[in-house]
Parts: sequence; structure tokens; C-alpha cells
Amino acid sequence: MTDSTTPRKVIFDTDPGVDDAMALYYALAHPGIDVVGITTTFGNVWVEQATANALYLCMLAGRDVAVAQGASKPLVKLAEPPPDFIHGADGLGNLPHRLPVTAQADPRGAARFIVDTARQYPGEITVVAVGPLGNLAAALQLDAKLPTLVREVILMGGTVIESGNVSPVAEANIWNDPHAADVVFTAGWPLTMVGLDVTHQVILPLALFWEIAAHHQHPATSMLYHAVQFYSGFYSQHDPLVGAINGCYGHDVLAFVVLTNPELFRLQAGRVRVAVDGLAQGQTMMQRKPVSYPQPGWHDSIPHTQVCLEVQAQACIRVIEDTLMRRWLAMPAAR
Ligand code: RIB
Ligand code: CA
Repeated sequence: MTDSTTPRKVIFDTDPGVDDAMALYYALAHPGIDVVGITTTFGNVWVEQATANALYLCMLAGRDVAVAQGASKPLVKLAEPPPDFIHGADGLGNLPHRLPVTAQADPRGAARFIVDTARQYPGEITVVAVGPLGNLAAALQLDAKLPTLVREVILMGGTVIESGNVSPVAEANIWNDPHAADVVFTAGWPLTMVGLDVTHQVILPLALFWEIAAHHQHPATSMLYHAVQFYSGFYSQHDPLVGAINGCYGHDVLAFVVLTNPELFRLQAGRVRVAVDGLAQGQTMMQRKPVSYPQPGWHDSIPHTQVCLEVQAQACIRVIEDTLMRRWLAMPAAR
């Protein structure tokens, strides 16, 4: 658990996405987290859909959170079509219907929102980023001092030892915008990477989301169960280990679990750089030995990233269950 009694102020940078929805609901349910804003990016869906989903998820949970729209495409490479076979064409498992939403996105773009909020609360903001990293790269363009203004950045993305999920070496969020990711890994803020090395150790059973929905009897958790059904279908079909449990990887939610329960992870510090093109495009390369390399790109001045390498999986699942079972939901009001 976080040791402070004051909830941690978080900007959630996201491409919702089913596991993004799990992560948002975990954050809204957790008493140690105060979600002060959501910034959206392309990734699991196009950015307009990501923004609509963020507004919808908040409305359904009865929570009023600022949502600012961000990156619509990668910095350099061409955008690829969203993975509708994993998250559904709408990013939430192809919901059969939606309640109306009247809330609108913040008129500021995501990068401006991040900079303004970091200046408003200097040293207090944690950015939890679980999509391609263009919004953080753009925010750094707006204010080069941003790394001294935010408290820390926790990102879900990358992999060091575990195989990639879009190529043998690349994880999807980093693959989707490798240039932005390399900017983020070298910016010099306190940075924690939650990659496939740990997210592939934590398989969430679909039955857990059924229990949560049955417990709350609330439109938000019923919607989440529907979305996770679709998402689990993909993972259960493609990964025999996941299929044996009839479940899915929770990827993005673990970026919040490392914030609330760091004792469940083993981290190692080291420089991380991203291969921006070629066969290894999107690979997160970690310098794991404390030696000096004279090669360009690996100079001693490159900052370290704290990389999650091991996780206590069953304890994580219990924390996720306990958090989502809390009383945290209000009734949705169209706003
Ligand atoms: O590789 C897993 C990541 O890619 C998660 O953030 C998921 O939401 C997808 O965007
Ligand atoms: Ca995501």
C-alpha cells in the first residue's frame, strides 16, 4: 500500500481498451489514488474512440473526471489499424448499446493538459501511461522542465526478457510509437516500466469479473464484465496458459498495482533505450550491468529506468479483486 494517507494525484494516459478500462476502474476504486485527469491516445482504438470511451467509462461509474484528447498517430512511423480482434471495434468488446453521454472533452489537448496540471501541482503528479507514449513526448516538447515538475511516471509497455506480443522483441505500446517511447525513456524523470516481464505472469480469470459484476449489480461493472468476456476470448484462444484459466492478461491495471503495492514487485534499475526501426523496431533494450559502454546512445548521462522484472501474481490478483469489490461506484448520470 502507499504509505501516505493523502491519495496520490494521477493523470491516466490511456487508449481504452479493455485492460485500460480495468485499470481506470481500479484507480477510481482505490482510496490511495486521486485521478485528476485522463489523457487519451490512439492505440487499441483511434483517438476519437479512445476519448469517447474514457468519457463513457467515467459516466458509467458516476465519476466526473476531466478527459483531454491527445495523439492521433505516431510521431514518425505510419499508424496501423487498431487491434479490433483483441478489444473489439469499439475498444470495449463491442458493447451492444451505450447510455448517452453529455460530458465533453477538455478543450485543451492532452499535452497541454499534462503540462498545466503538472504546473498546478508541482512535484505531486504521477503520470500512469498505458498506451503509446506520444502525449508524454508532446508534453516534453511544450515544457522541457516537465521531468522536474512531475513526481514520477509509471508506464505499461516494453519487455526485457519475456517475448514481445507484436514481434519477438516488441510490446504493443512501444511498437505503436517507438520514437515517442525513446523520448520518454531518456527524459530524466523518475520512471518505472511495467512490461510483459510481469504482466504475462498475472492471468486474471474471467470469473473474477463475473463476481465483481454480481457483487455490485452496477452498469459499470456489468459493462466491464461484457468487455472482459470479449478480451478473454482472444487471449484464451491464443495462449494455452490463459485458456486453461479462461482469462486474460490485465496488463494496464498492473501499472496501478505497482503504485499502490510496490512490495509485490522486484525491480531493477538500468538504462532503457528503444529500437526505433529495423527488425528490432519497438524493442526495449535494457542495460542490466552497471558498466560503462562507450557506444553512442549508452552514455553514462542516460537516465535509469526502474524495470519490473518479477511479480507476486496471486497477491496481485487478490489486490485487484479487493479493490474492485470496494464501495466506489455512484449511479451513472448522463452529463
Ligand atoms: O501490450 C499490452 C498493451 O497494449 C496494453 O496497454 C493494452 O491495452 C494494449 O494497448
Ligand atoms: Ca492500453
